[in-house]
Amino acid sequence: MSHAPLTTLPQWQALKQHFATIGTKHLRELFAADAQRGKQLTVEDVGLYLDYSKQRVDADTLRLLRELAEACELPQRIEAMFRGDKINSTEGRAVLHVALRAPTTEKILVDGHDVEPDVHEVLDRMAVFSERVRSGAWLGHTGKRIRNVISIGIGGSDLGPVMAYEALRDYSRRDMTFRFVSNVDGTDFSEAVRDLDPAETLFIICSKTFTTLETLTNAHAARAWCLKTLGDESAIAKHFVAVSTNAEGVAKFGIDTANMFGFWDWVGGRYSMDSSIGLSTMLAIGAEQFHEMLAGFHAMDEHFRSAPLESNLPALMGLLAIWNNNFLDAATVAVLPYEQYLKRFPAYLQQLTMESNGKHVTLNGKVVDYNTGPIYWGEPGTNGQHSFYQLIHQGTRIVPCDFIGFGHTLNPLPAQGGGDQHDLLMANLIAQGEALAFGKTAEEVRAEGTPEALVPHRTFEGNRPSNTILAAKLTPHVLGTLIALYEHSVFVQGTIWDIDSFDQWGVELGKQLAKTTIAELTAKDEPKLAHDSSTNALIHRYRQLRDGATSGKA
Ligand code: F6P
Repeated sequence: MSHAPLTTLPQWQALKQHFATIGTKHLRELFAADAQRGKQLTVEDVGLYLDYSKQRVDADTLRLLRELAEACELPQRIEAMFRGDKINSTEGRAVLHVALRAPTTEKILVDGHDVEPDVHEVLDRMAVFSERVRSGAWLGHTGKRIRNVISIGIGGSDLGPVMAYEALRDYSRRDMTFRFVSNVDGTDFSEAVRDLDPAETLFIICSKTFTTLETLTNAHAARAWCLKTLGDESAIAKHFVAVSTNAEGVAKFGIDTANMFGFWDWVGGRYSMDSSIGLSTMLAIGAEQFHEMLAGFHAMDEHFRSAPLESNLPALMGLLAIWNNNFLDAATVAVLPYEQYLKRFPAYLQQLTMESNGKHVTLNGKVVDYNTGPIYWGEPGTNGQHSFYQLIHQGTRIVPCDFIGFGHTLNPLPAQGGGDQHDLLMANLIAQGEALAFGKTAEEVRAEGTPEALVPHRTFEGNRPSNTILAAKLTPHVLGTLIALYEHSVFVQGTIWDIDSFDQWGVELGKQLAKTTIAELTAKDEPKLAHDSSTNALIHRYRQLRDGATSGKA
């Protein structure tokens, strides 16, 4: 379902022409022209308030972007996704993360089979298991209660669970320890277990394919670590569970498939944190709150499917991202949560956005003649303000920002001088958006009595676009809506760019080459190398360093 070449569409051309006028306008002018702008260019639904008035757009831009979306058949593509069409065309798969959070009353068909009963059967098994572990009914091999949960996975089988655990820590069991191991660097595993007792530790091995080198390597390390203390192979059944679509691989590893929680090939790795990949989240916050999170996702799904484009949150976010990326030529997006619990949200979004939309060919395999996925990055506020915000304010590049904040903190702390520390935090969020948009003119700087030589340095050009997303409080429900907002915004962008947002062929080459390199690094005798001269020299040098006198433990 490819659309006509994007840059030849009249709607694209119209946007280009429109950019010639609006592109030179300052946000100061846009605000001056419409006293209601700050209220009008906002949408509030499903518990999220989006203020996009500080984007460099006017009513015409928004209309033209919607026309572009219609021309790219966005509404039809949304329906195709919800209907279970195989829109991940390069892998021949449906894309149905929305089925993971749909209620039992919904019927979603994949190849004529209703998947909802399957989804809920797994959710129910997860709930029973989680309750057994949380209540102490599930005991370890030696009869001790499970106090530590270590989730082993990587990419989509790690970033979502880590982010959700951190985000919902306030709702989690504080008498249990949750850790996450992803890197094949042995330090990751070693540091995660160094102070833990294997008799009290449960490992969740998360891998959609159950073939991922890093995860299987760490899973083997975990097994060896457990058996070293617990001795007996039969301990594995009490200390290991798996989350995967590959029952055969799980059994081969030695985990009883009775202790496996499945999901399906129509769930992309980076869209899987609300599947059984979220088992650690459920263990941390309990089944009831996990279901609240799913309800949040679902509320956004319903909104995305039914709201008109002009008030559709993911559609707006996606179209504004297109505008910034392709017309303002902004290469990156900074995601700046003013909420410490969302500290891993930018890292999670990096995979979601960049593995999805980092593509250079259309669905038809034609090389694109426009930029696709921007680079996502970010840090929680206010920390970022004291490091990279300088560039966002006064650098030569445009960095559109997504500010995320909440009405309530989960940790109120009275501030010196009155109010709560949370007011200080939110004052910073609001002030940053204002400073970016309006800046400070040279006249204003001079009027402050600044010496002339310093005026250029102290001038803020402004006109730097941002979104502000507000919600009442970070709850499991709100987290679900927020994640689904970005998931669907990614889909909107991919639809306009006419790319497959659900495959990830770009990760394969490195994996393939590493296989050859591993053999060369571990060969007993100096291997015959046939790479380029740099790669050959690096392999040689590494072997020298490794085998030389200065070993890490010397
Ligand atoms: O290498 C990329 C990737 O395939 C991601 O898409 C995926 O989330 C991650 O690896 C982990 O894969 P798996 O869950 O199969 O171990």
